[in-house]
Amino acid sequence: TEYASPHELADLMGVTAKDIIQKCFSLGKFVTINQRLDKESIELIALEFGFEAEFISEVEATAVLIEADEPEDMQIRPPVITIMGHVDHGKTSLLDYIRNSNVVAGESGGITQHIGAYEVTVEADRKITFLDTPGHEAFTAMRARGAQVTDIVILVVAADDSVMPQTIEAINHAKAAGVPIVVAINKVDKPEANPEKIKTQLSEAGVLVEEWGGEHQCQEISAKKGIGIAELMEKVLAEAEIRELKGNFSRDINASGIIVESELDKGKGVISTVLVQRGFLKIGDPFVAGNTMGKIRALMDERGKRILFAGPSQPVRVLGFEDLPQSGDVLTVMSSDRDARDLAQKRQVIRREHEFRRSTRVKLDSIARQI
Ligand code: GTP
Ligand code: MG
Repeated sequence: TEYASPHELADLMGVTAKDIIQKCFSLGKFVTINQRLDKESIELIALEFGFEAEFISEVEATAVLIEADEPEDMQIRPPVITIMGHVDHGKTSLLDYIRNSNVVAGESGGITQHIGAYEVTVEADRKITFLDTPGHEAFTAMRARGAQVTDIVILVVAADDSVMPQTIEAINHAKAAGVPIVVAINKVDKPEANPEKIKTQLSEAGVLVEEWGGEHQCQEISAKKGIGIAELMEKVLAEAEIRELKGNFSRDINASGIIVESELDKGKGVISTVLVQRGFLKIGDPFVAGNTMGKIRALMDERGKRILFAGPSQPVRVLGFEDLPQSGDVLTVMSSDRDARDLAQKRQVIRREHEFRRSTRVKLDSIARQI
């Protein structure tokens, strides 16, 4: 990988770009001022000027430097839950039931539109955030970027069926990510339901439920009839309590969150659902998100109601992006528009160079083969 141009190197070493270009020339290399130099050249040039080159990766070079969390800023935050399980075992029904039973008194109607993440308030005013992305995506797309978004997995298994391939897949994903599993044995209203059989099969798949001496909490439910859902929420909260999930609630830090999903609205532009992870997002904040940037123009909750800020574990719809970000991108609030733009541009340049190098390499390869 190439790292710096003669211009950037000159800045780093306190010499002029011309000195660098001349030095390169004396070493038999022709370079232009903004051309990116390869690693060996940089090492050589640095040595010539009495420096030792130290390389950091491009990822590090374009990362936002963030202050460490202060222990006193850390407070308990709501858990973030992903529901996983085999096809037709009742994931959507469970989410729908939870969502519809969470209509706060006085508010009319539930959440009608589909949103990738939302928060529900359960008994005693405790909150739980649900990620409503296809379960495996929440792990693959986001984890591929090093983002851990899920705190607890609810594994739904239909009591009238069996532990199935996608049940096993979900278990594997959760275990690989070190995320605790709470089991929901669904469809217990059905006459043919056999929860004991499911528990046996789960134990064979390495998930031993608590009542059998295992570490996994388990609840029999009917997503259709609403049986056992309150108890399931209790178990999820108990699991969260054990984990002592904390977030940084300081308002003075670089707030950040994960892009869950984005869409392009004809009137409003880019609308992105962001799960806040650190600090508070607020209107007017300049930010970077992956290769794009923006300034927070509006924040909305899952009901489309305008809000002024959003804190740890809170899902929020954000307006103000210049371009569509990707799911799993990290949105980070910057101290100024200028900083946000500089960093986004740097990332774009690096991305374009990667693409360019890939395409030229292919061309060179095919030329070489022809010769
Ligand atoms: P995919 O999104 O296709 O993977 O399915 P899913 O896991 O989201 O399942 P979904 O919620 O769509 O439920 C599948 C079927 O099972 C639907 O016909 C539901 O009405 C039915 N179902 C879900 N939960 C229950 C339940 O507790 N009892 C009964 N009797 N039927 C249920
Ligand atoms: Mg579904």
